[in-house]
Amino acid sequence: MTAYNFDEIIDRKRTDSIKWSKKHLKENFNAEDSFPMWIADMDFKTAQPIIDALIRRAEHGIYGYGYKSDEFMAAAVNWQKKRNGWDIEKEWILFTPGIIPALNFIVETFCNKGDKVIIQSPVYYPFLNIITNNGCQIANNSLIYEQGEYKINFEELEAIAQDSKTKMIFLCSPHNPVGRVWTEKELTRLGEICIRNNVLVVSDEIHSDLIFKPNHHTPFGKISEEFRMNSIVCTSPSKTFNLAGLQLSNIIVPNERLRNKLNHKLTTIDIDPGSFATVAQIAAYNDGEEWIEQLLIYLEENLTFIDQFVKERMPKVKLIKPEATYLAWLDFRELGLSDLELQQLMQKKAKIALDDGFIFGAGGELFQRINFACPRSLLQQALESIERSLQGLD
Ligand SMILES: Cc1ncc(COP(=O)(O)O)c(C=O)c1O
Repeated sequence: MTAYNFDEIIDRKRTDSIKWSKKHLKENFNAEDSFPMWIADMDFKTAQPIIDALIRRAEHGIYGYGYKSDEFMAAAVNWQKKRNGWDIEKEWILFTPGIIPALNFIVETFCNKGDKVIIQSPVYYPFLNIITNNGCQIANNSLIYEQGEYKINFEELEAIAQDSKTKMIFLCSPHNPVGRVWTEKELTRLGEICIRNNVLVVSDEIHSDLIFKPNHHTPFGKISEEFRMNSIVCTSPSKTFNLAGLQLSNIIVPNERLRNKLNHKLTTIDIDPGSFATVAQIAAYNDGEEWIEQLLIYLEENLTFIDQFVKERMPKVKLIKPEATYLAWLDFRELGLSDLELQQLMQKKAKIALDDGFIFGAGGELFQRINFACPRSLLQQALESIERSLQGLD
């Protein structure tokens, strides 16, 4: 067994990391030396079998065109089976270089200009641009936030779905940024509304391996044959194994008619996986389980650390404890600041680069999203900076 050391501080500067780019931090968060806790990648090294496989591939020296080999597809099929108990077929999987590109291709393929796509804000903000940049309209089914918990507003969802212009929903499952792991019951109710109203479910499951017990992930397409035929499930090893820079995702489309249409689009623009993406996926899905299990323990301890810190030292700030993801959603509403004042406080006084809640759409105002996938000592320093920035506010 390899024991991984997630406490190790690794310098990511000069690795072309956007998270740590001084220029980006200066332009977007006011100071080049802000501590970056925004974009969703981790400050941990990935699993050793992935590093070894990539080194072997790099040493080969020839990096010509890649393709979706049987081994590459089998790795994704087996992962769904072993982690989620979902039987999928390799023919159902389409490759895209990331889920954002996939969502763009999906809207382009299945929507006409002016159609509506449902989102459930506050939600992963690129969803909003993907819809509007493709000439479609956002139909917002905001989540209900009550007593520190987020729920789906099913009555409103039904009303929005009934609009004949509504063609699709972007389901974020688990949900970024609120951290909900939707239960099978919730997904079933949502899926039934979509079937009744002919709304295609595009389930973004990029965070589905990062789940804290006792929660468990239900792949949308696993629930029933009817749901399988009315869904596109977007998955990737990228969040799980910190491989976002390798641009890799597996889009599961069990419905042959939908798959042929989407595949036509992908083949027209000639999309195939890069040499490093295939190698990384095979190593991650075949040999990465030991790492992910250890990672989840560390992340959960980080979460407990934040929870205690916030309760003891920043009692006016509330942590919405995520059931999944390494992103925590902090509620600053009790401080009585405006969104701009809160942003300035984090950027100029705390010097921490967080994602402002309002960019996630309605319901995100006066929240901040913090990425806690970093060594605990750095997390502690960041929380102490936030704590100091709040002093004297009363
Ligand atoms: C819900 C969600 N979908 C998609 C992405 C990005 O996916 P990709 O890097 O594969 O385009 C992220 C990244 O944070 C995410 O949180």
